[in-house]
Amino acid sequence: MNQVNTPAEAYWNHRQLLADLRPELDQLRKAVDWPGDLGPSQWAQIFVMTYDFKPDLIIELGRGYGNSTCCFLKAIEQMGGKEACRLESLCLNNGFQKRTRPQVEKIVSNDFFEPGDYKICNILEQDFKAMIGEARRVLVFWDAHGFEIAECALGGIMPHLQNREHRVLMHDMTDTRYNDCSREYGDLGLWKGENAVDTDYFIGHINTKVGQALSITDFANRNNMPFFSVEESLHEFYTDAPEKLVEMERLVGQDYFTMWGHWFWYTMSLAKTTKMTFPRFGNKAVVVDEAPVHTEEDTLAKVPMPASGLPSKEQESVAAPKSVWSKMNPFRKVS
Ligand SMILES: C[S@@+](CC[C@H](N)C(=O)[O-])C[C@H]1O[C@@H](n2cnc3c(N)ncnc32)[C@H](O)[C@@H]1O
Repeated sequence: MNQVNTPAEAYWNHRQLLADLRPELDQLRKAVDWPGDLGPSQWAQIFVMTYDFKPDLIIELGRGYGNSTCCFLKAIEQMGGKEACRLESLCLNNGFQKRTRPQVEKIVSNDFFEPGDYKICNILEQDFKAMIGEARRVLVFWDAHGFEIAECALGGIMPHLQNREHRVLMHDMTDTRYNDCSREYGDLGLWKGENAVDTDYFIGHINTKVGQALSITDFANRNNMPFFSVEESLHEFYTDAPEKLVEMERLVGQDYFTMWGHWFWYTMSLAKTTKMTFPRFGNKAVVVDEAPVHTEEDTLAKVPMPASGLPSKEQESVAAPKSVWSKMNPFRKVS
């Protein structure tokens, strides 16, 4: 089996590069100007994890205003540019093209954006087999939320990665073993499937506001696969090596080096199973989780779904009332 470096090892291995690139990373983050989606130390952690793994393909699920996009492009630049790695950046949103890219273009080289394909698209409708193609080392950044995306990632992408080197980085989850998370409900009700709103939930040692934490916990348990937090690697690495901690803070700086990350990661190569199991994705039977009026249910069940699981315009108009489709519509709670 190939060596699997943890985020803490990647941080340590590439601390000098990170220190050297600080001014450029500062400039990039300033140009993106959307720190709420990815803070400085998360930029640093994702940069070193990518640079350390040396993927030849990065699939970015959810670009938003493009923090992760620019972080990956910076790592690719350091790895040798478009000959070394391509970036498939997928998002419903055009905010990166409209708002971020013109700002970033002012401070980067002409070929900075060349490794990327910045698709404005629905992740649920992509042909991942074709997208992955002959790639040998694939890094997936999973930062679009909810159960539909989770089914796509676990059932539509993972089967194509199981026999090649890969890393999957999942944003928006905190490891409660290493962080003080408020456990008070306060004024909030239960988390009921929303994504990235005020309500959160605790599952095992994960605290999160996004649905995919449930899906990955289920997937990891079924496949006897470890699911790691960035924090656990940092605490394991630095607790017995305080001199390294001091060195990191001195060299990299306290903003780019923190023991906090708010993301998890895995590779299926560490699953202790002889055969991975994956959820079905695409061409699926229609399952409505709340019984509609009988005649509507009959109509709905007879209408074949497109491969993406989304209704086409024609199906939407003939098959079911809006209330039924809206329950199934993955656009309804995106952040
Ligand atoms: C949290 S933001 C991503 C932030 C980004 N990774 C960053 O670092 O700045 C999540 C993005 O996922 C996108 N998204 C949600 N559902 C999607 C879908 N079905 N297809 C494509 N993009 C989707 C949203 O439009 C949103 O821009």
